[in-house]
Amino acid sequence: MRGYIVPVLASVALSRASTLPSDHSSSKRAVISWDDAYSKATTALAKLSIGDKVGIVSGTGWQAGNCVGNTKAVGSIGYPSLCLQDGPLGIRYVMGATAFSAGIHAASTWDVDLIRERGSFLGQEAKQLGIHVQLGPVAGPLGKIPTGGRNWEGFGPDPYLTGIAMQETIEGMQEAGVQACAKHYIGNEQELNRETMGSNVPDRVMHELYLWPFADAVKANVASVMCSYNKINGTYACENGGIINKLLKEELGFRGYMMSDWNAQHTTTGSANAGMDMTMPGSDFNKKNVLWGAALQSAVQSGQVQQSRVDDMVKRVLAAWYLVGQDKGYPTATFNSWKIGSQNVGGNHKTNVRSMARDGIVLLKNTANALPLSKPKSIAVIGSDAIVAPKGANACADRGCNDGTLAMGWGSGTAEFPYLVAPLDAIKTQAQKDGTSVTTSTNDNAQQGASAAQNADYAIVCVNSDSGEGYITVESNAGDRKNLNLWHNGDALVQAVAQVNKKTIVVVHSVGPVIMESWIDNPNVVAVVWAGLPGQESGNGLVDILYGSTSPSGKLPYTIAKTQQDYGTNIASGDDSTWDLFIDYRRFDQQKIEPRFEFGFGLSYTNFTYSDIAITGKPTSGPASGTRGVGGPADLWETVATVTAKITNSGGVAGAEVPQLYVGYPSSAQTPPQQLRGFNKLKLDAGASGTATFPLRRRDLSVWQNGQWVVPSGDFTVSVGASSRDIRLTGKITV
Ligand code: NOJ
Repeated sequence: MRGYIVPVLASVALSRASTLPSDHSSSKRAVISWDDAYSKATTALAKLSIGDKVGIVSGTGWQAGNCVGNTKAVGSIGYPSLCLQDGPLGIRYVMGATAFSAGIHAASTWDVDLIRERGSFLGQEAKQLGIHVQLGPVAGPLGKIPTGGRNWEGFGPDPYLTGIAMQETIEGMQEAGVQACAKHYIGNEQELNRETMGSNVPDRVMHELYLWPFADAVKANVASVMCSYNKINGTYACENGGIINKLLKEELGFRGYMMSDWNAQHTTTGSANAGMDMTMPGSDFNKKNVLWGAALQSAVQSGQVQQSRVDDMVKRVLAAWYLVGQDKGYPTATFNSWKIGSQNVGGNHKTNVRSMARDGIVLLKNTANALPLSKPKSIAVIGSDAIVAPKGANACADRGCNDGTLAMGWGSGTAEFPYLVAPLDAIKTQAQKDGTSVTTSTNDNAQQGASAAQNADYAIVCVNSDSGEGYITVESNAGDRKNLNLWHNGDALVQAVAQVNKKTIVVVHSVGPVIMESWIDNPNVVAVVWAGLPGQESGNGLVDILYGSTSPSGKLPYTIAKTQQDYGTNIASGDDSTWDLFIDYRRFDQQKIEPRFEFGFGLSYTNFTYSDIAITGKPTSGPASGTRGVGGPADLWETVATVTAKITNSGGVAGAEVPQLYVGYPSSAQTPPQQLRGFNKLKLDAGASGTATFPLRRRDLSVWQNGQWVVPSGDFTVSVGASSRDIRLTGKITV
């Protein structure tokens, strides 16, 4: 199934004893090949009437079915009413499913085993519930704009990291039997006016940044892709033949189907002829306007849409269903999205959430080894972010409020919390074991926080920053964040506490970067724990790090700047024509802007030394010219060079390191100064060494030039480091 060996995975398997199965090749697969799936689909197609066909590609209408999207069953071929359900971090509208870590938090673990396991668990829960298509994972937004409301649903602004996370998640999900849906395709980087605005993305930028992770999704045999609300270069995404027919289907060889985002379709024939294959939910939200169904049938009869086009849609949809084995005894959905009920499908999946909650934490500051804590006499725990919201973790529909501790953003990409362990819950449990006295101030009042903190050995201040999908406005943030400041006066709270307590530890739960300049250099702020969006096991993962049962090993999947302006990208009020190759660290590097914390940064309780870089392979310059298949030319995905380095845990405790490989291209290529092209996660005991292995695919050395992927000739620099600005080893590949 897997077209190539994942660089990271392969090296992980070689270089460490994992606590999780890293040999995925032996895991049971519910997948057959596309060719086999298509031959079954072709046989089935022959038995269908035009009415059957239209029913397979048209949703039944908004809220006309138990799932957020439903299609018509066809009894003659044993085809069910397809159940499509959100979302990327868990099953929406079901109580008793797992609330996993958000995508951005999964990315900050840089741990492909955990990411794959998360995908697999997501898929297992979906299958138990009879969900055929789970609406995730997310590669758009990529995270061009740091205030973008839905960035946290995806894996951050680096296309390579996002691409690997997409591939692992999709394979994990589909092997478990559910069809994945890579969304939102494409250029959907903000919530403001998302249904009307246009993204004018140059071809090269499209390929090297925004399309890149979707190519990984296609290569991972993703069953479906969702076209987004916005326009791309003047044409709505779901009506855009340039991005659907040409980019995805022709260039990338995508064999699954393109579904619309909910009500993102604008015309009957335009969408059909552009390559859209399924309309969702099948009507507008007033349940009035229906663009396919009978209208598609008439368009075929009048010749505006070719019969062969409809047959192609149906074949794609059926093939995807066969691909993941849903024709064999797949459960029937029994839940109802519109009346949340209890379905206990979580099993032991909380183990993955606990591991991710822990290993996605990024330690940003740790003066004089303030952390880990060791049986302190007294601590104060401060902030509304330390507790579960008094009204309950699920009090607001689709998590559309920011009360209590933040463990996911808001919108369709959420799940109900089956439970939520808040920081204070877990800290109290630990404190009891240690005989530590705990004082609290669980609101955001600065004065009250300071008085609670005053006499404690340590003050733990929990603060946050939230965002979500634009159909809900929270505290006047209409999806996108108004700015990158902490919410609820968080800066003042931290400052007030730090004023009275010399050992102030700041815990930040956030959807993305925040500006922390007003307190980061305060000497009384001795530690900053970047705790992301951890999901239901939040507090437990936090305590693992605060008390050092595990050394922190997360790394930032984005840059944290000193001012918002440094990112150079903003929410557009109309169309957005400001697209270039320089987003996030690519821009900071190029403009020589000093970030507060750079992409890839994260501290540990131990130290790692890097040595012995070695490079093998002799890549050739020129275009990829291999046979076109799923993912494009086959040679694009072949390994053309391999970089290795020795990583030694030279500190006193066990820990995990994420060595990162950055590639600088020959100057003629006019690329960003360096781009992530590999990473490993090595778990090493104190004193132990491991080998980081970074296979470079042809793709990883290519630039998009005149309509093809080309490896430029000249010198490539390869840099192996502990972050994008902490390069420890360098080498050269001459092409
Ligand atoms: C719109 C969102 O953009 C999409 O992500 C989601 O899957 C659908 N609504 C269905 O809820």
